[in-house]
Amino acid sequence: MLLDTVLEQVDRDLQVLDHLGLGLRYCWETHIHADHIIGAGKLRQQRGCRVLVPQNATVKSAERSGSDGETLVLGGVQIEAIATPGHTPSHLVYLVNNTHLLTGDALLIRGCGRTDLQSGMRELFTIR
Ligand SMILES: [Fe+2]
Repeated sequence: MLLDTVLEQVDRDLQVLDHLGLGLRYCWETHIHADHIIGAGKLRQQRGCRVLVPQNATVKSAERSGSDGETLVLGGVQIEAIATPGHTPSHLVYLVNNTHLLTGDALLIRGCGRTDLQSGMRELFTIR
């Protein structure tokens, strides 16, 4: 499974998968921004993976959606989806085996994803 793939990195990602002898079953998105979705679509074309997006995201081409509190299982790995609106209204983070958090753009190094771009929820976070 790859998370939040980016179009410009698809060739690199495929090389790494091939180098490691791994297949690709899923591309998951934490949120919907054009760069991520386009990357997942190209990977689906080339490797036949399934695409999962947050519930209520405005995407028609994904095979599955994930919602807050839902636990998904990949092999022996449990992944809980947690709603984190702000960067986008339907943003999800994924808690892996209760030990690691895949944050997408909700939490970045030294900051968080902007809330004023492409359907961000700036009004929720205005400090008065
Ligand atoms: Fe983003």
